[in-house]
Amino acid sequence: MLTERENLRLTQVGRGTPMGNLMRRYWHPIATVSQLRDEPVLKVRLLGEDLVLYQDRSGQLGLIQQACPHRRISLEYGIPEEHGLRCPYHGWLFEETGRCLETPAEAPDSTFKDRIRADAYRVEALGGLVFAYMGPEPAPLLPRWEWLVDEPAYRQVNFIELPCNWLQCMENSLDPTHTEWLHGHFANYAYERKGAAREQLRTIPHHSRIGFDVFEYGIIKRRVQGDETEEDADWRIGHPVLFPNILSTPNQFRVPMDDTHTLHVDYVVTKVPPGVPVPALKDLPYYYPPLLDERGKHITDYTFGQDYMAWVTQGPLAERHKEKLAESDKGIILYRRLLREQMDRVAQGLEPTINFFRDPEQNVRIELPHESKGVAIGLKSTRLTQGTATSGAGIGPAWQPAEMAMRRALAPLPPWLNTEPWAGAGLRHWLGAHDYPLPEPSETRGGGHGAAGR
Ligand code: FES
Ligand SMILES: [Fe+2]
Repeated sequence: MLTERENLRLTQVGRGTPMGNLMRRYWHPIATVSQLRDEPVLKVRLLGEDLVLYQDRSGQLGLIQQACPHRRISLEYGIPEEHGLRCPYHGWLFEETGRCLETPAEAPDSTFKDRIRADAYRVEALGGLVFAYMGPEPAPLLPRWEWLVDEPAYRQVNFIELPCNWLQCMENSLDPTHTEWLHGHFANYAYERKGAAREQLRTIPHHSRIGFDVFEYGIIKRRVQGDETEEDADWRIGHPVLFPNILSTPNQFRVPMDDTHTLHVDYVVTKVPPGVPVPALKDLPYYYPPLLDERGKHITDYTFGQDYMAWVTQGPLAERHKEKLAESDKGIILYRRLLREQMDRVAQGLEPTINFFRDPEQNVRIELPHESKGVAIGLKSTRLTQGTATSGAGIGPAWQPAEMAMRRALAPLPPWLNTEPWAGAGLRHWLGAHDYPLPEPSETRGGGHGAAGR
């Protein structure tokens, strides 16, 4: 249990707050480069600030304040110029540093523009994502995680805005036993209500042991489940949670938009054999899955939807002063301690020590421990009576019932594709659109459960 004050200290991300200062020491994904191809100016809310991300006609990316410094019109409607973004109201022109280059209504010899500055932040593209850095200079290196740089791979992003604080999403990643209930017993209940047959339900291995270790990039979580022992990879190797706000593989960035909204960036990477067509990074497919159904209720018949339900229904900001933490919450307790320690460092004027990179030689390709390494992600589906699958909006007409519909849609997948379900749906769509020969359903394994709920 935390006091109300401690809860706010851990969760609030605005400028000048302790957690806001810590979060500003890290890079956060805010868009894909393909979104900017489709829409060169995007509205962004990040760490409590309203901004616009744009790409000018020379290809330069910029992230500047949304309200024009002149009379506060939204630069979301700005005009990308050869160099910079021009306000549509009176034509003031800003470049990526925030410098004002032109104020057309002023006298030609006016120096007024030299005293105008928009807030501006660094952006950098990697792996088809655009990352922002809002902290002090010099900025740390943008980490080159293996899954951001490895090829050949099919990549896809699923964006969803959640009306809750980012910490609720992250604490879920330090809470292994929820998978047994939320993605097991509760999932089966949801499938039954959709008419699933008994043989379509998940089998649910019980966690007999969970453990957590701090490592240089965050926390490794370990588990012994079902008939496993401590010799199994689930315990021996474990699963990485990257500090401060990423669950790795499948990669989920919990980007704080403000104190009560989170941009959930699901960055799916599926390694493919050479010769399989994959989208160029500039064309990275992106989807916006729906959060609620037509009745305004959470869609709970797929793994991510179950997690979203859990995080959002804890409230916009979970009342941690009313919670009762148990022994099985020890991962959450450890993670909060780490957050506090790193916040305190930053408050003392020091840099974070976890998952923080300054040495380019350390940042060529950052390899991560992972229990499924060497095994296609999704082999965990052997624990399931049936694989599960989902779709992003726009992939197909049938969203509801999501898991059932996409199980059917996923049936003819290549045998090497034993992947996280969202990617399965997107990849199948992609391959179909590129006339890639898909095998008959009998040759396939079907969609895997993936590690989405890990
Ligand atoms: S409000 Fe932007 S130029 Fe006037
Ligand atoms: Fe989960």
